[in-house]
Amino acid sequence: MNSADLYRLIESRKSIRKFKKDPVSKEILEKVLSAALHAPSGKNRQNWRFFVVQGKKRDEYLKYSQKSWLGIKDILQKRLKPSLYEFTERFFYTLGDAPVIIFCYSLNDKEERYHTSIGSVYMAVQNLILAAVAEGLGTCPMGAPLEIKNEVDHFLNIKSLKVPEGSEIELLCAVVLGWPDHEPPKAARQAEGRITWISE
Ligand SMILES: Cc1cc2nc3c(=O)[nH]c(=O)nc-3n(C[C@H](O)[C@H](O)[C@H](O)COP(=O)(O)O)c2cc1C
Repeated sequence: MNSADLYRLIESRKSIRKFKKDPVSKEILEKVLSAALHAPSGKNRQNWRFFVVQGKKRDEYLKYSQKSWLGIKDILQKRLKPSLYEFTERFFYTLGDAPVIIFCYSLNDKEERYHTSIGSVYMAVQNLILAAVAEGLGTCPMGAPLEIKNEVDHFLNIKSLKVPEGSEIELLCAVVLGWPDHEPPKAARQAEGRITWISE
């Protein structure tokens, strides 16, 4: 892959909210997760923790996804035009039939939480998302599960994980993943005010 291919890949990524029901092989999932593990991390703590949910457990999560919708639907009703609001509601009820949900957690120790822990996990998530695009997969990152953080922890039995003394494990987002079944338009990008050049 040359640099032009990489830029094209980055620019072609868009959130996918409708998927084919076809499964994604473990081999491909391992490849995209391995890309996540190559991200930089504060003090090289590699503090990301991923939980890959499929099959019956994925189906079971739909009722939680529906609940997370209740926490954000009023805000979205004001912001989205009716057709997009309906599409988004349906997405939360079905997760667009995505066969895989990856819950992305940070293992925080108290001093590092804001400085590096959270940023490190999001860097890994972006690696995962771009690797998924390279595989022809679609993804949608989701902050909505944070609406029901404690319930998601319980659903994944997070408490049973052994974490070092003084550390805690914190949900940061989920990524739904599968083979795309629609081609949404690219969401417009704005450059204005986003970049400030400073030099003497
Ligand atoms: C941290 C984060 C949280 C997000 N949470 C949600 C979500 O809960 N539900 C959803 O449908 N999309 C979610 N998105 C996707 C954004 O809506 C999407 O990235 C944005 O509209 C730009 O579109 P694009 O990804 O197609 O470029 C999230 C994106 C990010 C980065």
